[in-house]
Amino acid sequence: MKKVTAFVGTARKKHTHGAVRQFLDNLESHGGVESEIVALSDFRLGICKGCKVCFEKGEECCPLKDDRDVLIDKIIKSDGVVFASPNYSFQVSAMMKIFLDRLGFAFHRPRFFGKTFTSIVAQGIYGGGKIVKYLDFVGMGLGFNTVRGTCFTAFEPMTEKEKQKMDGALASQSRRFYNQLGKPAYPTPTMLKLMAFRMGRTSIRLELDYRSSDYGYYKDKGWFESDYFYPARLGPLKKVAGSLFDSVQTRKTRNRKG
Ligand SMILES: Cc1cc2nc3c(=O)[nH]c(=O)nc-3n(C[C@H](O)[C@H](O)[C@H](O)COP(=O)(O)O)c2cc1C
Repeated sequence: MKKVTAFVGTARKKHTHGAVRQFLDNLESHGGVESEIVALSDFRLGICKGCKVCFEKGEECCPLKDDRDVLIDKIIKSDGVVFASPNYSFQVSAMMKIFLDRLGFAFHRPRFFGKTFTSIVAQGIYGGGKIVKYLDFVGMGLGFNTVRGTCFTAFEPMTEKEKQKMDGALASQSRRFYNQLGKPAYPTPTMLKLMAFRMGRTSIRLELDYRSSDYGYYKDKGWFESDYFYPARLGPLKKVAGSLFDSVQTRKTRNRKG
């Protein structure tokens, strides 16, 4: 049985919530999936003050005492995750953004490898496509295997045509998500992901204090020596590209430092 958890960034049980329910019902109808909807509004989340203690000393030193770790634990216990938000002023809702900021340290120290991710955005008129791209990028940055998300238009009252379009998009998204759940959890990285890892780890190695939490995390995981975040068989082209990304970033960092 695979567990899929959807984190919803609105307290209003309307279009975003309804689309998430529909997506999860579709998913469960394929079999072998159990789901949970987590309304972020039911949890206490503090607003990040930007002290960067989490980056430097570790997330356990964060001065905010809230439900961040309860929510992270829900991600850890899931095989698949959905981030869903309405489009508010051409971005995710403030509630979703507060949640993402609380996960800020995990972009520096990614951890959700092997898990499937997607996004759902409800909009009134315009701008939701970019929010889907943003959330999917967030998913990739956190380490997830990302399945392209969906934006749908819910100008009220929703027309029959809009409803059909949304139903089709959610059905196809749930099929893609379901297929991804059944695929190998640790795929060979794409060139883009390989580049992000190799250049990122090189700048952490050269730029950060060895006592910082980010540096220690990479060291403990063996990421300064590994080909990728997790064991992956790189073909000859990606092996060469990986070394090239290492040296390009090394040169860039040395030039920057003068
Ligand atoms: C504060 C606020 C800002 C909004 N900004 C946008 C926007 O920039 N673009 C857009 O297409 N819709 C915008 N909307 C409309 C919502 O995205 C739309 O009504 C959506 O269905 C709300 O999700 P819900 O039904 O789950 O509450 C906004 C709504 C609110 C309340």
